[in-house]
Amino acid sequence: MKQNLLYIKTIGCQMNHYDSERMAQMLAPLNYIPTDDLEQADLILLNTCAIRAKAEQKVFSFLGRLRRLKQENPNLIIGVAGCVAQQEGERILKRMPHIDLVFGTHALFRIPELISKVKAHRKRVCDTAFSDTLDEPDLAGAGTRRTTAFVTIMRGCNNFCTYCVVPYVRGREMSRAPNTVIREIRSLVRNGVREVTLLGQNVNSYGKKEGISCNFPELLSKANNIEGLERIRFTTSHPKDLSDDLIEAMAVLPKMCPHIHLPVQSGSDRILKRMNRGYTVENYLKKVSKLKRTVPHIAITSDIIVGFPGETEEDFEATLALVQEVDYENIFSFKYSDRPNAPSTKFRKKVSEEIKQRRLEHLQRLQERITCKKNNVLVGTTQEVLVEGFSKNTNSQLTGRTLCNKIINIDAMNSLAGQVVSVKVEKAYKHCLIGRVSKIDQVKTVH
Ligand code: 5AD
Ligand code: SF4
Repeated sequence: MKQNLLYIKTIGCQMNHYDSERMAQMLAPLNYIPTDDLEQADLILLNTCAIRAKAEQKVFSFLGRLRRLKQENPNLIIGVAGCVAQQEGERILKRMPHIDLVFGTHALFRIPELISKVKAHRKRVCDTAFSDTLDEPDLAGAGTRRTTAFVTIMRGCNNFCTYCVVPYVRGREMSRAPNTVIREIRSLVRNGVREVTLLGQNVNSYGKKEGISCNFPELLSKANNIEGLERIRFTTSHPKDLSDDLIEAMAVLPKMCPHIHLPVQSGSDRILKRMNRGYTVENYLKKVSKLKRTVPHIAITSDIIVGFPGETEEDFEATLALVQEVDYENIFSFKYSDRPNAPSTKFRKKVSEEIKQRRLEHLQRLQERITCKKNNVLVGTTQEVLVEGFSKNTNSQLTGRTLCNKIINIDAMNSLAGQVVSVKVEKAYKHCLIGRVSKIDQVKTVH
């Protein structure tokens, strides 16, 4: 059978990257092999993100650019997957005649049938049906040649934060069975993976809907028992559901990395209420204190939205104060944008673009100072680093991550990829550290 070239472009979160790999794996039996060359591809898939207006604009500008390729090669198949596909459905086919296939977040695993359908009948297909069950095929890490990997443990979200499209485009929470997750991790480890990041919109409610007799901390404990696995991370944990059991698991399970992404979104109770986040600043700070007390040297990161409708200067000051108080390792910060279906789109007192931009820059400057201060403290210490391979930027340095998830580049001659080494930190920058491998018999991890 003729080999076909598959080009996948992924926009968005880690789950989208994971899903893109799944698609590639599922298309292998149809003789599709991955290519990096867009011009040569027989099938182009775009996995999309709808979380903010900017991500959606990226989708349509990429799709627009594909028009020429389709004119030059009418046999080319172009498919749109993910959250924008789910949100826009048929509208994409109407608006863009060169697109052959639109398939939403629950149609992901139907990709082989959908492609066959497009090919057999040369007709355009749209599949945005939601299902009640998660039928993830068992694709456990086939052919993996990496050190780190993502593993999705649940999909969807039940929280309905007023600014967010996720519950609409990904549907309600559904968890994968623990034995499937563990089997996938085992297979990844057999293929060389040393670190996994468990993914879900709200990992704290893992298994609740299904009544699975294994909660999230118990799943972590099972993963911790896998021989050959060195490190476990997870994301994202909703502050309202962060349990004492999870904090305890982070403290006692030896493979858990001391890092938690705990998105606060705002430091003002008034705004948190309008966002429907389900916690107050006081509750949040209590959980942060408990984490800091219980998990030694924990790194805490966050997401923050500036310019939510009705956000006053005072509300924004409260966010700045919270950022200072928590002393985050790092944050992802965003200007609020209206999204289709999100209730906040109808909220009054929208903040002007100019004020949003000013607040974003102010917040980012503050966080940069905090991150630099924290990175500088690490100079002279020895960190345990999982080496991932050669750095893309330099090609001569190795790159890896510390337990707290900081990128560190190392001057080393040979590839230590996949190994955990002790690295003495020599320099600190805003986005990374630079270090040197210290002798193995001098292993000592100081934070
Ligand atoms: N506008 C701006 N940022 C948003 N996020 C989610 N929805 C919006 C929106 N409408 C941010 C939140 C979330 C992160 C993934 O994206 O901070 O945690
Ligand atoms: Fe969106 Fe809130 Fe669910 Fe996160 S918890 S995915 S912000 S609705």
